[in-house]
Amino acid sequence: MTTQPLLSVKNLKVHFYTLRGIVHALERVAFELNRQETLGLAGETGCGKSVTARAILRLIDPPGRIISGSIIFEGRDILTIDEAEVRDIRGSQISMIMQEPKMSLNPVIRVGDQVAETLLIHDRSLNRRSARRQAVDMLAQLGIPDPTRMAQRYPHELSGGMSQRIMIAMMLVTRPKLLIADEPTSALDVTIQAQILALMQTLVSEIQTSVLMITHDLGVMAETCERVAVMYAGDMVEVGSVHNVLKHPQHPYTQGLLQTVPDKANPDQPLFSIEGNVPSLLEPQTNCRFAPRCAHVMDRCKREIPPVYNLNGDHQAACFLHDGSPEAQAV
Ligand SMILES: Nc1ncnc2c1ncn2[C@@H]1O[C@H](COP(=O)(O)OP(=O)(O)OP(=O)(O)O)[C@@H](O)[C@H]1O
Ligand code: SF4
Ligand SMILES: [Mg+2]
Repeated sequence: MTTQPLLSVKNLKVHFYTLRGIVHALERVAFELNRQETLGLAGETGCGKSVTARAILRLIDPPGRIISGSIIFEGRDILTIDEAEVRDIRGSQISMIMQEPKMSLNPVIRVGDQVAETLLIHDRSLNRRSARRQAVDMLAQLGIPDPTRMAQRYPHELSGGMSQRIMIAMMLVTRPKLLIADEPTSALDVTIQAQILALMQTLVSEIQTSVLMITHDLGVMAETCERVAVMYAGDMVEVGSVHNVLKHPQHPYTQGLLQTVPDKANPDQPLFSIEGNVPSLLEPQTNCRFAPRCAHVMDRCKREIPPVYNLNGDHQAACFLHDGSPEAQAV
């Protein structure tokens, strides 16, 4: 079995050409996702998580543009292959679950037919009857009671949780190698969230799919991910195993982010928030984007972009505090 990562993103840069100016949405995004691994993508709103997800599928529409970088999936660079090849990869090899399932389901087609249609698009040898049967099997695998009847329903007849299960069925029925789940449960209430995540995890391990899990919820991340990547204002600031990043964070932003998680044991304790605001993305990155909010800021942080340092084990952080440390090596 090959040890090459399934997905390797390097120096990804995405800009949006708006009337207000150029939004430097992604400046330096890099991470690797191994086979059968779940990698969590964390960071405050607007830091570029969804843009990263869309770029992986080459779905950045004007006024956005992928400026540079590489996205190597199964040995091919998604950014340089032709459109027909990308279309082939979308859905059959890489699927994406969006935050709002109802927006992604077609309101005038029965949900079972929508799941079957996904199969038919990617396997032309399949006939409609067996596609429908596989769709119903998939609904059953997702713990949907009376799946044959459920397949006959239209999206407006379903609850949010049920719609999200149908979306998961649609995205996993082709057994993709990579599932991108962009806030898959944030629109649902807490008890349903836990059920859906558990279902997703079971199914993902059955079909041996790797997952890029985007979530605001660091608790969910700790439970579902093997590795974590943390973004700040379009920059990748820390990547590594879930243990290293969430238990021994080495970037001041990650340390702050972890302090914002409510303490379940002390629910009355006031919530910590990182002081200051995220910088405007209308300016290109020329320094550490976190400098205006960082308690450890030094002069050079305001002038230079910190390199990414390889720390001990599976752990990287882009912060000058590691410069000169014997176990850190700039990449
Ligand atoms: N079509 C667009 N035009 C202009 N700017 C855009 C566009 N799409 C995204 N952006 C900008 O790119 C940046 C990253 O957005 P993105 O949606 O990836 O954030 P996010 O991390 O997914 O946030 P959230 O947690 O709220 O979902 C934001 O500053 C956003 O304003
Ligand atoms: S590079 Fe400087 S400003 Fe940025 S996180 Fe590290 S210490 Fe703080
Ligand atoms: Mg988003």
